[in-house]
Amino acid sequence: MVTLAETLQSQAENVLMQNYGARNLALVRGQGAHVWDSEGRRYLDLLSGLGVNNLGHCHPKVVAAIQKQAQTLLHVSNLYLIEPQVQLAGLLVEHSPADRVFFCNSGTEAVEAAIKLARRYSYDHHGPGRHTIIALQNSFHGRTMGSLSATGQAKYQKGFEPMLERFVHVPINDLEALKAAVDETVCAVLLEPVQGEGGIHPCRPEYLRGVREVCDQHRLLLMFDEIQCGLGRSGHLFAADEFGVEPDVITLAKSLAGGVPIGAMLAKEEPAQSLVAGTHAATFGGNPLSCAAGVAAFQTIVDEKLPERSRALGGRFKERLLALQRKHEAIVEVRGLGLMLGVQLTFPAADALAFLRERGILAGTAGPEVLRFLPPLIVEEDELLASAEVLDEFLTTRR
Ligand SMILES: Cc1ncc(COP(=O)(O)O)c(C=O)c1O
Repeated sequence: MVTLAETLQSQAENVLMQNYGARNLALVRGQGAHVWDSEGRRYLDLLSGLGVNNLGHCHPKVVAAIQKQAQTLLHVSNLYLIEPQVQLAGLLVEHSPADRVFFCNSGTEAVEAAIKLARRYSYDHHGPGRHTIIALQNSFHGRTMGSLSATGQAKYQKGFEPMLERFVHVPINDLEALKAAVDETVCAVLLEPVQGEGGIHPCRPEYLRGVREVCDQHRLLLMFDEIQCGLGRSGHLFAADEFGVEPDVITLAKSLAGGVPIGAMLAKEEPAQSLVAGTHAATFGGNPLSCAAGVAAFQTIVDEKLPERSRALGGRFKERLLALQRKHEAIVEVRGLGLMLGVQLTFPAADALAFLRERGILAGTAGPEVLRFLPPLIVEEDELLASAEVLDEFLTTRR
């Protein structure tokens, strides 16, 4: 008998762009930290839809908010006031160092908004010509032309050149290199406090404090891309809190609305003043449905103290992974904060992924040899720790 996954796979090969490569697993249902495939097989989802399902799948509070909003008002334009939009902005302002919020639909759009804000703010205060943005090598900020230009990995840019002008990339955790890149054309620094796609590399606290000082000295905006590491993932509501550094701008997306598409660019009052009427917009940005889901998701992350849970549970999981490193030479390094962890292997991480999947566990990669874990922040401790045993078994049998 032909399975649903096989049918979908052959149809997808004909009708979908093949930019995601071949896929052979059809996930049809999710609940909590688990998903089920079309054959009824259950998996523990330790990738959370690529960092989206911080609350797990179909969190009842998010589902209820979506159902209620869907029956009330699905969409009106930003020509009008939208109650859930104002509510979600209020929550973000209350819990972050930012004063104002712009909503959009995805991570890359949030980064585009940050790039535009940085340039416009600099133009308003320093006149034209100050438009360079310093970003980090090995970073990832998205796939549209601005965020792709900010991304510090040539493999994502190849064949799409020319990139947008005036992005300079410096190595992570090298303050001298950053200082050397500052000239009279620079307007901002953009970085992920914990690099995600680039292989799970946290910035060092003293480095970020140094970057803040450089930004203050030269009146540059400090912009944190917290699209992957934010909203509890790193063990704090915002990764910035871990480092005790206040950025001027924060970008969010992924888990902000519990699985509904959304993006947000948060900024301090002074730079936010530069986005005056008509300077930027998004038709769906701040849509009633996504913001109602966002209010429920964000409130739940805060109320259920999920950042604290992420920190404690992530610490214990990391301990297990470090124990595996002591046992297996194939593990070069274990990196990350909270429930954002990477295991650097000496061989393709895809081999480990295949074994884990066979055993009912879904994880991801961050580069060819890094196994990436982004579990839902609500994952049961025993299930999470048991996945380290499965990895142990794989590394033992592989020798
Ligand atoms: C740090 C970071 N910035 C930006 C993006 C782009 O987000 P999106 O895929 O929603 O455009 C991602 C996606 O993985 C990300 O991890």
